Amino acid sequence: MRAHSDGFVTIHGKQSTLILELVATGAPIWRYWGVKLPRDCAPPCPLSDSLGIPTFSLDQNVPFTLFPTFGAGWYGAPAFLAHRAGRNSLGKDFTQDFTSSNWAWDRRDEAVTFTLLDQISNIEVCISLDLDPTNDVLSCKTSLTNRGTTDLSVQWLASASLPLPADAQKVISFTGRHNHEFEEIEDNLSRATWLRENRRGLTSHDCVPGALVALAGTTEHNGHAYGAQLAWSGNHCQRIDPLDDGGYQWQLGAWLAPGEIQLGPRETLRACDVLATFSPHGLNGVAQNFHAGVRARMTWPSGSMKPRPVHLNTWEGVYFDLNEATLKHMAEEAAAIGVERFVLDDGWFQGRSSDKSGLGDWWVDTDIFPNGLGQLANHVTGLGMEFGLWVEPEMVNPDSALYRAHPDWALQIEGRAQLTARNQLVLDLCKPEVFDYLLDHLGTLLETLPISYLKWDHNRDVTLAGSDGAPAYRGQVLASYRLFDAIRAAWPNVEIEACAGGGGRIDAGILQRTHRVWTSDCIDAVSRVAIQRGFLRFFPPEVMGCHIGASPAHSTGRRQAMNFRANVAFGGHFGIELDPRHLNAQDRKQVAFWIRAYKDHRHILHSGKLWQGEAGEGATWQAQGQPDDFILSVFRVAPSGRRHPPKLILPFVDQARAYKLTLISPSSQEQDNAVTLLAHLNSSRGNVSGAWLANSGLLLPPMKGEDGLIIRLTAS
Ligand code: DGJ
Repeated sequence: MRAHSDGFVTIHGKQSTLILELVATGAPIWRYWGVKLPRDCAPPCPLSDSLGIPTFSLDQNVPFTLFPTFGAGWYGAPAFLAHRAGRNSLGKDFTQDFTSSNWAWDRRDEAVTFTLLDQISNIEVCISLDLDPTNDVLSCKTSLTNRGTTDLSVQWLASASLPLPADAQKVISFTGRHNHEFEEIEDNLSRATWLRENRRGLTSHDCVPGALVALAGTTEHNGHAYGAQLAWSGNHCQRIDPLDDGGYQWQLGAWLAPGEIQLGPRETLRACDVLATFSPHGLNGVAQNFHAGVRARMTWPSGSMKPRPVHLNTWEGVYFDLNEATLKHMAEEAAAIGVERFVLDDGWFQGRSSDKSGLGDWWVDTDIFPNGLGQLANHVTGLGMEFGLWVEPEMVNPDSALYRAHPDWALQIEGRAQLTARNQLVLDLCKPEVFDYLLDHLGTLLETLPISYLKWDHNRDVTLAGSDGAPAYRGQVLASYRLFDAIRAAWPNVEIEACAGGGGRIDAGILQRTHRVWTSDCIDAVSRVAIQRGFLRFFPPEVMGCHIGASPAHSTGRRQAMNFRANVAFGGHFGIELDPRHLNAQDRKQVAFWIRAYKDHRHILHSGKLWQGEAGEGATWQAQGQPDDFILSVFRVAPSGRRHPPKLILPFVDQARAYKLTLISPSSQEQDNAVTLLAHLNSSRGNVSGAWLANSGLLLPPMKGEDGLIIRLTAS
């Protein structure tokens, strides 16, 4: 050890503990992050006294710290890489090692800030760790200040460097594409580095900025599991590196383009936040902690979330085929079946007859709406619904008045050909005139129309993000955040949905500024089961946009029964995305039924915990609510090869109590079985014992492929 131990900082959460060993002249050493320890439990001695010196190694151990640096004996991944133009007059330009360290409680025993100073490289690092005692979410905030007199080029600044134990076995992360978000990947941890990087300029469909780590034997419900996610909507990097003692280092941070950060003297770079958590209750425990942590960071008009209103989003119902009469009629039909928020999607603004033109010209196209949008919006609100409007502020079509007037407002690199995607370019929000233009035009819409909701889209990756010659990937994300914040500040009653070709911008950073995300453009219910399953590993169900779409599904061409489509959408923020004018009588009745059922149960679906599990043979389940009153959804996407489905074990229920089971799904051919079964369960000997449900399991009725079942279980 190069420095003497100076005691320990211990933080206890509800079910987790973390311990750092203080070092007066260096970053604190990670000693523990895992299951909650007794209050008086501490490391028996400092690491300096307990580590031997391996052969052919430095004569002093350099252990894994909260902020490992390159150059002075740490051979693992550094939390930080930077230099001062290769050389400076002092030649002190490429290694870092802290020469002093201070710390203070921000909230005693819960939140602490460490301040680390390297007087050789003139760098100061502040790291705050805040472990929420109610949900075990550790919020990590890291900032770096240039205390030197020359510019510092920063290549990498980890938002957090976290310890994982030697028995960590697998890492679960998520990949995908448009129409296919949150595909789960499982990798075994080994002595090789595990690495996921995203350079698409926004959160991306391809790489969720977070992952879960499970120990051997960990399941959905039991065992030790860790999770970490970045609150960031841009390029990012996550890596897990093996350490010499068999454990691992887990780093997450924004990925920086070459030359992206030049930190002038006294300037500070704030890394995006990391939310990390440990749970002794398996992957569901991690998800429950994350849900609570994300909820705690969200801000709602008037202080708290109101019941999530039923949506109608016009996109798949009519696409660009808009006119006032059609939309008014759709609104009437929607109101009649119980819709509460009518969202006018793409196609309403100047020159937007297809996806080839118009982006940037944020005023109403009077060829489509000769009366403006006021009459439609008032019609919608007159029907008792909220009026929502789609926008895509960060984008511009080359075929637009805006681009013709200001071609230099698009992100670009001189001499390089522009790369369009969906016929559009990205505006340079770092330019104050662009930012002001957007705020001004969005403001005019919000001032002049009764808009209470914006669906804020972003339909392409951010490529060639040059702003006056400098890389602006990070700057663009921060400028977008400022635009969201400015809109929220000026119109605090407006809710916002984040969309990016479906789920291309879903992360805890955007959710600090918005109230819902559009999970995927794929509304096919079979695909949605898997997509939503991945989503719910990180984010709570009430922000997960879920609609009943048409059959056949526009994204896949597959046909599914109305009840199945509704079953799958039911648990999230529910809505419809079809033209209600064309529903046949039976479908109309079913949609109205589901809307009523959702309204009756959303307070349970959206306020408590969420558990997910396998029901065997192609079936999955999720439960939402509290252990004594919850909604259970079972989804069977493929037919079973067994005559009788396996029993469904519900390990989280209160085993000391008995449960009443109420079927929520409407009666249909398949559901007759369920009604009979549940009636039997409920009648013969009273209610079903919790111990029976947790150990023997719930008998499920036979279900065909692409079928669902929704039951409420209430403890008496
Ligand atoms: C992509 C979104 O995901 C869709 O819901 C829709 O809003 C279209 N953009 C409109 O262009």
